[in-house]
Amino acid sequence: MRIELAVLPGDGIGPEVTAGALRVLDAVARSAGHTVEVREYPVGWASARDGGDPLPQATLDGCLAAGAVLLGAVGHPDADRVDPERRPERGLLRLRRELGCFANLRPAMAWDALVDLSPLRPAVLRGTDLIFVRELSSGIYYGESSFDQQRGVARSTMEYTRDQIERVTRVAFDLARQRRRSVVSVDKANVLAPSRLWRSTVDALAAEYPDVSLRHMLVDRAAMELVLDPRQFDVVLTGNLFGDILSDQAAALTGSLGTLASASIGGRVDLYEPVHGSAPDIAGLGVANPMGAILSVGLMLRHTFGLEAEAAALEEAVRSVLARGLRTRDLTGGDEWLGCGAFADEIARAVALAAPAGAEAD
Ligand code: IPM
Ligand code: MG
Repeated sequence: MRIELAVLPGDGIGPEVTAGALRVLDAVARSAGHTVEVREYPVGWASARDGGDPLPQATLDGCLAAGAVLLGAVGHPDADRVDPERRPERGLLRLRRELGCFANLRPAMAWDALVDLSPLRPAVLRGTDLIFVRELSSGIYYGESSFDQQRGVARSTMEYTRDQIERVTRVAFDLARQRRRSVVSVDKANVLAPSRLWRSTVDALAAEYPDVSLRHMLVDRAAMELVLDPRQFDVVLTGNLFGDILSDQAAALTGSLGTLASASIGGRVDLYEPVHGSAPDIAGLGVANPMGAILSVGLMLRHTFGLEAEAAALEEAVRSVLARGLRTRDLTGGDEWLGCGAFADEIARAVALAAPAGAEAD
């Protein structure tokens, strides 16, 4: 198979983690006989810094022409001072919307080798395996907004239509059928009008999935349940804002924000990005954790290219490297750790070692 990727390294640690992820992708492709073609494009502050657009037209065109998009991270402290249209985050939000990716999948699981890193007791965490289905193209991120510094008034609006809720709900229920057949839908229906529409729409659709159990949970309660008993969750369906918040929490619970991957699907081209941000404090130091980016490539192999065996091989390689005690800096309290590139190379090597003899392509 020919895997044609648009890669948008972006800001901060984005370039380091995407480079590491591409090395692992190369190892997977080589051992399974696929070819990978990568085209790089600027996004975020890397592109807006010198007066440019955080999502140049050429970048968008390149993404639309690709088989899938891998993005590193966007965001930079200097961008706090520029006008909102040039903010790096704006580039990412426009990209998600232009691609039409409305469902953002964020798996969070307890890695056996990392259980002791969690702020939760191992007995509470062990066995946690959940996935967020976060609505990604609407909600308060995209509603009408205004900002009047002089008058001291600002406003953001949360708006959802039934269609938008239905299509992401379908993704969640379909996914639950491949997992443990349980969906928890998270909202704030006791206060917010869009949440009430959310709840009634999810309820109506649930009738089509009698084999999947559904519970509704208010978002404050969900934040609490995530730390009390994360194992109760299988598929967590939620809106754009709540999904953003809860997924960072889940990432920290399972060890480190650096480990979480995401897939944004349902649009014209699928978009893959680690859940962590640009981490400007450690950018360029070579100490970033590439796991989120590497596992995002795994999700890409599975969801966009239908390469389940290759995705599983990648995930197994990550597991085996962790099991050998290899760590990035964020995954250890001590001073024995590998840099971003070296850690990615260990995973790439583990993939290659696991390849069946004779599978090597020329
Ligand atoms: C995420 C990030 C983004 C979001 C930012 C960078 C706009 O936090 O993907 O979780 O809020 O969606
Ligand atoms: Mg976030």
